[in-house]
Amino acid sequence: MKTALKLLLFTLLVTGFYTYIGQMVPQTEVHPPKTRELRADMTQDELIEAGQEIVGGKGTCLGCHTIGADKPGRFPDLGGVGARAGSRKPGLTDVEYLAESLYDPNAFIVEGYSPGMPQISKSPIGLTDPEILAVIAYLQSLGGEPSVTLQTHLKQARAPK
Ligand code: HEC
Repeated sequence: MKTALKLLLFTLLVTGFYTYIGQMVPQTEVHPPKTRELRADMTQDELIEAGQEIVGGKGTCLGCHTIGADKPGRFPDLGGVGARAGSRKPGLTDVEYLAESLYDPNAFIVEGYSPGMPQISKSPIGLTDPEILAVIAYLQSLGGEPSVTLQTHLKQARAPK
């Protein structure tokens, strides 16, 4: 009987010990960044909001860029980019310039910076055409007048699959 009691105590101790260790290990759950469904009937404001979410989430833009930082960083600050996009590259409208900076970032390198921005439409970031439209609408809203909708056709857009 005494042995049985000791055995029980020992078992409880061991179990307790491992439960304790188990709790110490950080339990991290990784959720994929949520992306809002892009619907053809979204309002401009909803599209801009979705673009903002993509810029901070799936687009991983904020891993490099800041928006409205007070000090210049290693990467161009995107604050006010909507206002300057139309005059960055001669012959390109703001929408054409922003589309080029996402689909073909090395076609134009902002003065004072080095190439190094990944092609956003390709893996691993791999934004879809509608997601890129949402991002452009959001970028336009940073100092400019958003004109892009999900109906806007960009010449870089891939044929629907
Ligand atoms: C790995 C770092 C990196 C990531 C991630 C990145 N960029 Fe960039 N981006 C750069 C660099 C470097 C430049 C400057 C060189 C150039 O012009 O290509 C740039 C330039 C730009 C410009 C031109 C800015 C201007 O003032 O004309 C825009 C717009 C832009 N990025 C938007 C984005 C958006 C939107 C995303 C996310 C979908 C993104 N970037 C993700 C590094 C990055």
